[in-house]
Amino acid sequence: MTQATKAKGAGHACSSFSRRNFLILGGASITVLATYGVGAEAQELVSSSYVRKVVGRVSDLEQGVAATFYYPNDDIENILVMLDEEAGGGAGEGRNIVAFNTICPHQGGYMGVADFKRPQSVLGPCPLHLSTFDLTKHGMIVSGHAVESLPQIVLEIDGDEIVATGVMGLFYGYSQNPTGA
Ligand code: FES
Repeated sequence: MTQATKAKGAGHACSSFSRRNFLILGGASITVLATYGVGAEAQELVSSSYVRKVVGRVSDLEQGVAATFYYPNDDIENILVMLDEEAGGGAGEGRNIVAFNTICPHQGGYMGVADFKRPQSVLGPCPLHLSTFDLTKHGMIVSGHAVESLPQIVLEIDGDEIVATGVMGLFYGYSQNPTGA
């Protein structure tokens, strides 16, 4: 079952409850980090329980062109993009390589690579209620109905390899993120 399918089936009230539980029980620190930025120690904290996976190569990236990858398991689709500017949580020499989940945290609208907008460096608008997210600021909402940021995939660069090591934020439709481990 894909994440999009799970999102369709998830009731909004249930999802809200799960997200509240997540914030109370385990996600508060992660939410704060996503809002205010993360240092190396914090990224290590976020990444500790997730699988490490090569999700692309720097030499294959074309600046401003988004690509799809799956992480932390084969059901969860994300986008990878080299932005025109430095970004919060950005990897690489220019700190401008970022990755985000493509499911809107409001009610599960799907956004794909075609929804990435350059030069604004935003993802959206979501097809359901038009939320738009700033990829330079940890996926923070720019406009629309969503109240949470897009989940950001934590990246490291190892030579030419782009390695996903964790997730900041809760995937829509999940009470707990799968870790891929
Ligand atoms: S589902 Fe995306 S704005 Fe509502």
